[in-house]
Amino acid sequence: MYAQMVKSEATNDDPEQLAAFQARIDADDKIEPKDWMPAGYRKTLIRQIGQHAHSEIVGQLPEGNWITRAPTLERKAILLAKVQDEAGHGLYLYCAAETLGVTRDELTEMLLDGRMKYSSIFNYPTLSWADIGAVGWLVDGAAIMNQVPLQRTSYGPYSRAMIRICKEESFHQRQGYDIMMKMAQGTEAQKKMAQDAMNRFWYPALMMFGPSDKESVHSAQSMAWKIKINTNDELRQKFVDQTVPQAKYLGLTIPDDTLAWNEEKGGYDFAEPDWSEFFDVLKGNGPCNTDRLNARNKAWDDGAWVREGLLAHAEKKNAVRHAAE
Ligand code: 3HC
Repeated sequence: MYAQMVKSEATNDDPEQLAAFQARIDADDKIEPKDWMPAGYRKTLIRQIGQHAHSEIVGQLPEGNWITRAPTLERKAILLAKVQDEAGHGLYLYCAAETLGVTRDELTEMLLDGRMKYSSIFNYPTLSWADIGAVGWLVDGAAIMNQVPLQRTSYGPYSRAMIRICKEESFHQRQGYDIMMKMAQGTEAQKKMAQDAMNRFWYPALMMFGPSDKESVHSAQSMAWKIKINTNDELRQKFVDQTVPQAKYLGLTIPDDTLAWNEEKGGYDFAEPDWSEFFDVLKGNGPCNTDRLNARNKAWDDGAWVREGLLAHAEKKNAVRHAAE
């Protein structure tokens, strides 16, 4: 069903209904699953929530890679808890997407065959333990910057999922920053490793906020429908302004020679990411795109016996119940 919706660009909604809907949005009403909504609102929510959920699940792969390599039992336990949290975040978001009439299997199928995206950041490798610190500090830090406003998104189930998710994200960011503090204040080798992680994750973290506002195809409509509360560039700027002092405290150098405080703007001027790299990664040409999709396809195939067993059990239970009626 969703596949047809993706095709239908037309939003031949009744103008009166559309006006009444926009009045609800402007009054900061929460839109609930059984409420009337424009086809385009439903379609862009399935797109955004579905890709958000995919990001949570695929995001487990780069960190999961280090659970068996964590330097101490304590670090292993912390990382294990964080990666498990991300699975739960994916679950909340798939449940929110299902309220819009798409099934989890449809969403999974579109992830696995490349018709739906996940966040570009997860197509970069985690090469050292310091990368796990940089992921928590920068990636979860960027995710928090983007997700906190989403708690006020106009679609009820998405807003409530975000409120639950945001409660756990600060732990994710703090544990990452704690790793970076240990490394940046450790031996010369550890400091070097932390700076290397900073160098490799800085620009991909800026890309998480999406293309520049002038390139963003969905922002205008998503802002009008209060699906999105801030623009991509607004959140990117907030992230840079928050992160620069944190890097300074660590004694790490942000890999951007143009970075400078702009008194008039009340924020940092900074170099934009390489957008050709961004769009190349979105096209599937990032360092880890193939690995990530292969891992998710393998997990889907390996899990077939569990799904079949559960379905068979449910069908048997239904048959017994019908026979007893
Ligand atoms: N990675 C992959 N695709 C991206 C992207 C990124 N970093 N940024 C933008 N895109 C895609 C969009 O999905 C859109 O493509 P589509 O039409 O095929 O969906 C296209 O680029 C144009 O971008 P727009 O700015 O027009 O799209 P949006 O208005 O949807 O804005 C967004 C992009 C800011 C990511 C928005 O979708 C959003 O806020 N999503 C919810 C938050 C989210 O998904 N975060 C991802 C990270 S979750 C995470 O990190 C988990 C944490 O626990 C570690």
